[in-house]
Amino acid sequence: MWKRTDKCGELREQDVGRQVTLCGWVHRRRDHGGVIFVDLRDRSGLVQIVFNPADCSEETFGLAETLRSEFVVAVSGEVRRRLEGMENPRLATGKIEVFVQELNVLSAAATPPISVEDERIDVDEAMRLRYRFLDLRRPQVQRVFALRHRVAQLVRRYLDEQGFWEVETPMLTRSTPEGARDFLVPSRLQPGEFYALPQSPQLFKQLLMVSGFEKYFQIVRCFRDEDLRADRQPEFTQIDLELSFVTREDVIQVIEGLVREVVRQVKGEELPDPLPRLTYAEAMDRYGSDKPDLRFGMELRNVSDLVKDSDFQVFSKVVSSGGVVKGLAVPTGASFARSRIDGLTKRATELGAKGLAWMQYTAEGEIKSPIAKFFSADVLQQIIARMEAKPGDLLIWVADTPAVANQVLGQLRVELAGELGLLEGKADYYLWVVEFPLVEYDEEEGRYVAVHHPFTAPLEEDTELLTTEPGRVRSAAYDLVCNGMEVGGGSIRIHDRQLQQQMFELLGISPEAAEEKFGFLLEAFRYGVPPHGGFAFGFDRWIMLLAGVDSIRECIAFPKTQRGTCLLTKAPSAVAPKQLEEVGIRIAPRVKS
Ligand code: AMO
Ligand code: AMP
Repeated sequence: MWKRTDKCGELREQDVGRQVTLCGWVHRRRDHGGVIFVDLRDRSGLVQIVFNPADCSEETFGLAETLRSEFVVAVSGEVRRRLEGMENPRLATGKIEVFVQELNVLSAAATPPISVEDERIDVDEAMRLRYRFLDLRRPQVQRVFALRHRVAQLVRRYLDEQGFWEVETPMLTRSTPEGARDFLVPSRLQPGEFYALPQSPQLFKQLLMVSGFEKYFQIVRCFRDEDLRADRQPEFTQIDLELSFVTREDVIQVIEGLVREVVRQVKGEELPDPLPRLTYAEAMDRYGSDKPDLRFGMELRNVSDLVKDSDFQVFSKVVSSGGVVKGLAVPTGASFARSRIDGLTKRATELGAKGLAWMQYTAEGEIKSPIAKFFSADVLQQIIARMEAKPGDLLIWVADTPAVANQVLGQLRVELAGELGLLEGKADYYLWVVEFPLVEYDEEEGRYVAVHHPFTAPLEEDTELLTTEPGRVRSAAYDLVCNGMEVGGGSIRIHDRQLQQQMFELLGISPEAAEEKFGFLLEAFRYGVPPHGGFAFGFDRWIMLLAGVDSIRECIAFPKTQRGTCLLTKAPSAVAPKQLEEVGIRIAPRVKS
């Protein structure tokens, strides 16, 4: 019989001479002239175990010869120091090995369809997800989940110390408009009616404030039927918070404290206090993005005033019709081959620009460009100064509406920084983006839509604009951004019934529709509601950042594919006719398009 005494990855030199029993998986097996070496793996790590006929019975040695990758075994033996020159500095246990006297095969294993021992995990992702239970055995994959666990515990401890209560809210709820499409769940007891899975606990956490809970948090699953990307999953986790009797500064302070504590504990880094802030307007103007990556410079510059009277019609016409000419300096870009500049132009047009104007500012300080002839030497000098160009830079410009110019340049900025290696070795850069517009006009829908959500309060000093120029009203919303990713967001809420109704009107939600959709919230607001505000982290995204992985799927134990499927369980799937009948659903024949 066996009884586990130690963990593989924890054995060290001070254990030399001890008798131990280890349990784990056969990671790798090597036969060396009558001696069998096995790397034995459990969650704590790897240790080398040795089957030497001098130490074990013939029977044990015979059994060891049958071991294959991923067999589960228990072994007992003695810890010994490795011979000089045989140490493995890459393993924490590399100075010792365990000489086995007894072997128990607890479970045999078929040949794994994906290799667990392979340190490169970039095999076909579909295979990884199909055999996720094997993929999750890999030490480098498990590392992310150890981190995820640790952060969850740190968050709970920190928020508990701050006086937050952890409260659960329903998963089966009603459809509430919060941007994305809902996942629906048919009701058997109320045929023809549906629950929706929550896109976030937004309304419930506000109700908890009405209930006097004061400080709420939850690490909670959210569901959104959206197009998926590298940082988006249909079900994902939020660290969700709400607080009563707070201002924007109070909420920001709590969140910053939490971020600082987690980064200190898991990365050993001290973040600036306070974190830097940009207004939305500044972020768009300088970086062309509401989630700017500040690990590098390459700021956008506006040269509209310098080029508005030039003979280069592409520029002058755009400026005279209310557009802008903005651009950025690409370090070392002056040496780009013509084909690479053409590639940039093509990319700019893909992103929505009508073209890309450029100048090479050579290392010798000369300007080479097909459009240089349109500008006097004096204006060229002013352009160079405005762009803060250095010899060796490539200058690029987009002439268009501010929205298009920002969007195209913002994207090129990030892509170029990646290509030029400007992100390598850079520390994570957290910042706040504040003062978002409250609403924006949706051309397709022909109405204003909430930029954050309909419960976000306008900045007090802007409330007067609500009736006159809604598009200019700034909100009390704030996003936490890191390395070009939105890690979380929140806002101070509207707690005045009248103002909430005014907001619904602005969004084109009729009083009847508001009553129908959020009647319970409006009603609750009639019975004494504290001023409140909150925040939600995208927990999976934050783990991506902390773990330094580039896909959200690496941070979720059983993620969905880009097409929303689970390759392991084969969800979603058809269901039995009887199940459909019970919920009163008939599937329409699929129309071929
Ligand atoms: P929001 O919609 O901004 O705010 O969501 C908060 C954070 O959740 C993350 N996130 C996602 N992560 C992975 N996959 C997705 N599909 C996905 N969608 C969002 C982002 C985002 O910043 N109730 C409000 C918060 C509040 O106002 O308190 C809310 O849900 O990191
Ligand atoms: P054209 O006059 O169309 O031959 O364009 C001259 C140069 O200006 C080319 O390099 C185009 O890519 C560039 N260009 C055209 N339209 C724009 C624009 N809206 N913004 C920036 N550059 C442009």
